[in-house]
Amino acid sequence: MDHDGTTAVVTGASSGLGAEFAQQLAQRGADVVLVARRAERLATLAERLRERFGVTAHVLGFDLAGHDAAHQVAAELRARGIRVDTLVNCAGVGTHGGFATADEGNISRELQLNVTALVELTRALIPQMLASGRGALVNVASTAAYQPTPSMAVYGASKAFVLSFTEAVAYETRANGLRVLALSPGPTKTEFFDVLGTDRPAVGPMSRPQQVVHTALAALDRRATPPSLIAGLANALPVAAARLASRQFALRVSGRMLGA
Ligand SMILES: NC(=O)c1ccc[n+]([C@@H]2O[C@H](COP(=O)([O-])OP(=O)(O)OC[C@H]3O[C@@H](n4cnc5c(N)ncnc54)[C@H](OP(=O)(O)O)[C@@H]3O)[C@@H](O)[C@H]2O)c1
Repeated sequence: MDHDGTTAVVTGASSGLGAEFAQQLAQRGADVVLVARRAERLATLAERLRERFGVTAHVLGFDLAGHDAAHQVAAELRARGIRVDTLVNCAGVGTHGGFATADEGNISRELQLNVTALVELTRALIPQMLASGRGALVNVASTAAYQPTPSMAVYGASKAFVLSFTEAVAYETRANGLRVLALSPGPTKTEFFDVLGTDRPAVGPMSRPQQVVHTALAALDRRATPPSLIAGLANALPVAAARLASRQFALRVSGRMLGA
């Protein structure tokens, strides 16, 4: 698809997959709006994208786990007169450990960021994205969306939500030019596992963010974009196997692999 001259909002653009989405979209000629908490990192990236690709790059330093954050982002976009064609909901966080003893505040923030902000920002921006019909909605789920993930119970469930929600929206909007994709990466070399505090759940080979984002944009380029995509064959095969197994068996395997 042609991103040239469009405007893309990318959340979680201060590192990892979000930064890579911003870079590859700018390379294809899209103006970008970079959203995350670490505004100084966003400003550095924005400067680089302006210089390298001659695009406009805005910086929005927001904590999306805060109450009503998505509406504040949408209001800021309106105030700056920015019309959005593409939204990449990439900001996300995981928590690790037994659910019964997990920190309640961390769980709330994880849900607020991975689920509530994603839904609310999508709802706030989708009318203008549908009107434009030139862009895409990409919601970053995970291979964790496809089976329960003991030791990351809330994270896996939040990503199952993202997958289900995005596929439903893809169907509802199928007659429009907007492309809608739930992207499910497997383990990828970003800051995700540093923030998580362990790489124990990183089962299987690690992908590079460049590969994952390239795969996602290539899916958007197809004449018929699939509603959901698992990035990489090495990640798609275990998911396919888990889907053939009973839920109980898949749960047991997942629990063993994650060391729960
Ligand atoms: N890496 C993997 O193995 C993997 C696998 C499957 C799915 N994913 C998903 O991919 C997405 C991107 O993660 P990543 O791997 O690129 O990890 P990452 O390098 O840790 O990036 C996470 C991004 O989310 C932003 N973020 C975190 N909390 C935020 C908050 N409260 N408000 C606003 N932004 C916030 C971070 O920016 P600030 O800290 O500056 O706010 C950062 O830009 C996530 O949704 C993750 O669940 C990752």
